[in-house]
Amino acid sequence: MPRSKLSQRVQAIPPSGIRRFFDIAATLPDVISLGIGEPDFVTPDAFRAAGIKSIEAGYTAYTSNSGLIELREALAAHLQKLYGVGYGVDDLLITVGVSEAMQNAMLALIDPGDEIIIPEPSFVAYGPSVQLAGGVPVYVATNVDDAFQVTGAAIEAAISPRTKGILIGYPNNPTGAVMSREHLLEVAEVAERHDLLVFSDEIYDRLVYGVEHTCFAALPGMRDRTILMGGFSKAYAMTGWRLGYLAANQEITAAVRKIHQYAIMSAPTMSQYAAIEALQSGEPEVERMCNEYDRRRRVIVDGFRQMGLPTFEPQGAFYAFPAISHLGISATEFCEGLLEHEHVAVIPGDAFGPSGAGFVRACYATALPKIESALERIEHYVRRLS
Ligand SMILES: Cc1ncc(COP(=O)(O)O)c(C=O)c1O
Repeated sequence: MPRSKLSQRVQAIPPSGIRRFFDIAATLPDVISLGIGEPDFVTPDAFRAAGIKSIEAGYTAYTSNSGLIELREALAAHLQKLYGVGYGVDDLLITVGVSEAMQNAMLALIDPGDEIIIPEPSFVAYGPSVQLAGGVPVYVATNVDDAFQVTGAAIEAAISPRTKGILIGYPNNPTGAVMSREHLLEVAEVAERHDLLVFSDEIYDRLVYGVEHTCFAALPGMRDRTILMGGFSKAYAMTGWRLGYLAANQEITAAVRKIHQYAIMSAPTMSQYAAIEALQSGEPEVERMCNEYDRRRRVIVDGFRQMGLPTFEPQGAFYAFPAISHLGISATEFCEGLLEHEHVAVIPGDAFGPSGAGFVRACYATALPKIESALERIEHYVRRLS
């Protein structure tokens, strides 16, 4: 066998554990997918119209590397209004989603061998983004008995002389956990004491149900050590527009911009115009979609509990995380069997880290009638197994 031409860097990264299920699901008829984490809503009319208008007006060139100044101004005002955290236009970088913000932030801040602490279960891209930058992800387990909250003590126990930062993502994918302000203050205290960076993925910040989201950068003393990442994909139903942002102190933002300018140039122009509209007039739409997710959340959580699956109460994002371990099979076996026999796609919890073993992730960003049919099919399958 000739030696692989692929870089060791890329060979070291496992393929995403969730992709395989989407590929199988695509080959089966009548599949109800609670797999992919994506809003079923079409981007609201006014945002789409603003994107179309910009194309018709001929705004089809690159923007500045940092993103349109009007968008950064609107974003600065938005973050100030929501969280009372002050960013100037030079502290903000408009990116191709949180995905780009995260990868380029890692490239800008990690030296080979630097360690980044990541509570798990967590979004599948976190560890690979650290590894691709030459760093080492150090996972810290969270568990359902602690409402999937990570404590300052657990983070502190994972610190080594190579620790450079902590990567947190709340509201959380896959658990739906929202970190309480008290727990975030513990994390802040540890970050301060050990002089660590905090990468905070707040893409689900607007999707919380009956609780408040705390912006990590708004905690006392945290703005300048936080790399805040957010975007338009989830709350504004704009996944395909590929738009997000990074907010940090000017030195860090300039460093990330350097990579962005070579790798990306600028985020899509029409998407930036749509995002300005989303920030200016989008609140009622965000509220409408959030209320609908909340309704679906109740139905899916109650449905799982009624069929005997203990289910953590998710307070944010759009995922339910029922436990299936008492059925005596692994989460992967459960998901494969459910797909094969009932044509419903959910994702094994351990695709998001070892602490997700014994759970499955079901996304409820899909229409209520589909959720109801999926629940009937899952109940049928669970009865077969019990
Ligand atoms: C926690 C989390 N962060 C980031 C992303 C990627 O977001 P974007 O579309 O802004 O790249 C996702 C998408 O599923 C996510 O769940």
